Amino acid sequence: MKNILHIISSPRVGISDSRKLGNAVIEKIQEKYSDVVIKERDLTKNPVPFLEEVHINTFFSPAESHSPEQEEINKYSQGLIAELQEADIIVVESPMYNFSVPATLRAYFDFTSRAGYTFKYDENGPQGLLNDKKLYIAFTSGNIYSEGPYQSNDSNVPYVKNIFGFYGVKDVSVFRAEGLAIPGIQETSMEKAINSIVID
Ligand SMILES: Cc1cc2nc3c(=O)[nH]c(=O)nc-3n(C[C@H](O)[C@H](O)[C@H](O)COP(=O)(O)O)c2cc1C
Repeated sequence: MKNILHIISSPRVGISDSRKLGNAVIEKIQEKYSDVVIKERDLTKNPVPFLEEVHINTFFSPAESHSPEQEEINKYSQGLIAELQEADIIVVESPMYNFSVPATLRAYFDFTSRAGYTFKYDENGPQGLLNDKKLYIAFTSGNIYSEGPYQSNDSNVPYVKNIFGFYGVKDVSVFRAEGLAIPGIQETSMEKAINSIVID
């Protein structure tokens, strides 16, 4: 049995490109593994709040000292982290928004990047705590970033890889539907991306 965590971040619902590509990844996973449990974390249905002082104070103080408000915050953050811990496979939909990830996904990482849960520091420096997981990134963009002059503008895929790598998730495959705003490319980009999906 495989536990799949499906993270959705596009605020667009009906016409979202990344949802289309992410769903295609999920379908291929279902084809490969007969027995899967899929947990959907739609960050637009239940947005993670932007970090406020009370959140940071909660994350950096012992549970015994928490106020009732902080207990709720801690429970919520730990719930998000538990979904990551339980997953064998993580599928994250990561459309390019202003050269980076949607704010929904950024806020999610602020609540899941917690020492003692997803990473720790020891004498060797930072160590990821989420090991032996597979990550699939479904990336979509108007422009092209995998090659050409805009490659260095990509603060999306390298960032998502960095975050998950910091958590210990090093086995990553990226599927890209790029050039979705470029006539001559946009017509076939999604189909090519879907055809490129290999579940290993
Ligand atoms: C708010 C916003 C910002 C965007 N910024 C970029 C960008 O910086 N670079 C780019 O190539 N495309 C950009 N796009 C285009 C999207 O990356 C592209 O349409 C993507 O497939 C959208 O995915 P979605 O439909 O799942 O939201 C942007 C689109 C939106 C709505």
